[in-house]
Amino acid sequence: MPIRSILAGTGAYLPAHIVTNDELALTVDTSDSWIRERTGIGQRHFAAPHETAAFMGTEAARAALANAGAGPDDVDGIILATSTPDQAFPATALRVQAALGVTRGFGFDLAAACAGFIYALSVADGMIRAGQAKGILVIGSEVYSRILNWQDRGTCVLFGDGAGAVFVRAGEGSGCIDRGILSTHIHAQGTLGDILYVDGAVGQPDKPGHLVMHGREVFRHAVTRLAEAVEEALAANGLTRRDVDWLVPHQANARIIDAMGRKLGLSSERVVVTVDRHANTSAASVPLALAEACADGRIRRGDLVLLEALGGGLAWGSALVRM
Ligand code: UT7
Repeated sequence: MPIRSILAGTGAYLPAHIVTNDELALTVDTSDSWIRERTGIGQRHFAAPHETAAFMGTEAARAALANAGAGPDDVDGIILATSTPDQAFPATALRVQAALGVTRGFGFDLAAACAGFIYALSVADGMIRAGQAKGILVIGSEVYSRILNWQDRGTCVLFGDGAGAVFVRAGEGSGCIDRGILSTHIHAQGTLGDILYVDGAVGQPDKPGHLVMHGREVFRHAVTRLAEAVEEALAANGLTRRDVDWLVPHQANARIIDAMGRKLGLSSERVVVTVDRHANTSAASVPLALAEACADGRIRRGDLVLLEALGGGLAWGSALVRM
């Protein structure tokens, strides 16, 4: 039997501090109705000073390991997707490794903005299939509250903080019925780098960086590219829209999520939505949504789940998983 990557456990972490749209409107020139109508967002979680990408990623990873019935000795590697690392180096993944008490294996960070978790899952799947590892923690952890421009109402109302994780374990399987990751597809178009970016980093003189987005353009590309990604994932597996039990999309905007659900012909109950409560948590959004729907019993063993995301880069992709 071929090696296959099984999603053995999921975990999540959200900061306790919740900020509603009305609370934001006290300091930003905006309103609850504008934010809800344009995005579906009602509130977001913001990190306290100690809640860094490493801290939140560790908590989510701990929960994913517990959910899988695994421990630190089962972890051969950690891949952490983030655009808001604690430090330029060491990798945030290695701070997580130390905090979890994992004393061997590899760890690295992966930067693909909102598509980071899908990219990280794709890399983990390749490594597991190649026999390089038997157990990999894949984490998305973000503190976008620290890179928002509070003078730009077009972006600062859209994002939140949090972390999600999965523990991916080597198993065996083939075809579309056996458990595991059936396929991943990742894409990028660097020529669109200037429609969603952070205007600085530690490598630039005196520029810590703030998020900049041309929302309408990103919206347009998101709808087109994600629709293509959905078709690509199904075609690669000889499946149709009818075979998909759950869509777990990137949580940027309820209007984009609805468009994807319609594209798949899924009723709204079959689309996992957290954007109303979490806002856009970038690389954390897909694993947070997946962990929530697994924990509350919506997504069950044997279900076919389609994950997709798009973000700065532009970078986008999909993963089709039999749970
Ligand atoms: O996670 C990465 C991927 N990201 C995405 O997929 C995001 C994609 N883009 C979007 O979700 C939407 O484009 C936004 C939600 C960001 C913006 O929605 P929009 O319908 O494209 O609005 P807009 O930027 O075109 O702005 C419309 C109006 C403007 O006013 P005028 O020029 O029409 O008078 C803005 O100044 O809304 C105004 N506006 C606001 N008003 C109140 C912009 N932001 C706000 C705000 N509160 N926070």
